[in-house]
Amino acid sequence: MKVAFGCDHAAIDLKNELLNYLTEKGYECIDYGAQDPNVKVDYPVPGLKVAEAIMRGEADKGVLICGTGIGISLAANKVPGIRAAVCSEPYSAKLTVQHNNANIIAMGARVVGTELAKMIVDSFFEAEFEGGRHEKRVNMISDIEKKYGAQWHE
Ligand code: RB5
Repeated sequence: MKVAFGCDHAAIDLKNELLNYLTEKGYECIDYGAQDPNVKVDYPVPGLKVAEAIMRGEADKGVLICGTGIGISLAANKVPGIRAAVCSEPYSAKLTVQHNNANIIAMGARVVGTELAKMIVDSFFEAEFEGGRHEKRVNMISDIEKKYGAQWHE
């Protein structure tokens, strides 16, 4: 599985820790930055890069990290087809795949510690979408995208 990583300046250390952690586990990890702690990176930039990498098929799933995980996930979720979920514990990380078919896990480097973040990504990547009754609900999210996408392009 190919995993796209993105973060802002607040989360470079945690991003690198998790990228190395998943690489050692055999995932093919792609770093979309940020890389330099001395350069401020506005979170919508890496959020968009990772979201577009998934939509272009360069990556299967993504990991996004900023201070809280909120701003970077809000940005990614503007891209149609992206379902980015901010999680601070493993239970939600598992359920957001099983029920919401999330394709990006987002976390806050100022919220979770490194070991908890590793447990969160483990839960996220080990889970599988359950389909069934959840499929209809995820499709309803896509319908909202189509409704407003069509409006924007009229
Ligand atoms: C950067 O200071 C901070 O605002 C950002 O990392 C994130 O927490 C925004 O949601």
